[in-house]
Amino acid sequence: MCATAALTLSGEYTLADQPVIFVLNGPNLNLLGTREPEIYGTDTLDDIAGHLDDRARAAGAVIDFRQSNHEGHLIDWLHEAQAVGAKAVLLNAAGYTHTSIAILDAIKAITVPVFEVHLSDPHQRENFRHLSYVGMAAKAIFAGHGAKSYELALDVALQL
Ligand code: DQA
Repeated sequence: MCATAALTLSGEYTLADQPVIFVLNGPNLNLLGTREPEIYGTDTLDDIAGHLDDRARAAGAVIDFRQSNHEGHLIDWLHEAQAVGAKAVLLNAAGYTHTSIAILDAIKAITVPVFEVHLSDPHQRENFRHLSYVGMAAKAIFAGHGAKSYELALDVALQL
C-alpha cells in the first residue's frame, strides 16, 4: 500500500496518489558540507535532499526527507513510515548504525523495506565501523559513493 498524502520538501501536503519514500538521516549529518569533507564530500544535506527530490518527482514519487541527532526520533520515524504506508525507507543512521540495537529492532518491527545508506564506505574505515546493526535487517546497503549512494538506493527503492 502506498500513502496518499505526504509532506513534501516544500512543507506542503500532496494529495496525489504517489508512493512516498522516507529518507532518514542520523547524527551529525546536518553538518555535511563542512564536516570532514575529505571523507564525506562537500554536498550539504540540503543539496542531497534537492537531488533526491528531483529524481523522485521525475519517477512520480515523493520524498519525505528528515534529519535528527536523536536516536528516538529515527525510531519514531521508522514507525511512522509503516503507519503512513511508505514504499521504502532510505536510512543513513550515521554513528547509530554501529551501536543501535533499538534501531535494528525498529527496522525488524516494520514491513517497509529499509535500505542502509552511507556516504563513505564504513568497511574501508576503522574497525568499529565494520559492525552494522542496521545492516542486519536492511534490504540492501549502498555505501562509499558519496551523495550518489542515496541516489543509487533511491533508484532501487523506486523499482520495488
Ligand atoms: C556514515 C558512516 C558512519 O560510520 C559515520 O558514523 C557517519 C556517516 C556515512 O554516511 O558515511 O556519521 O554513516
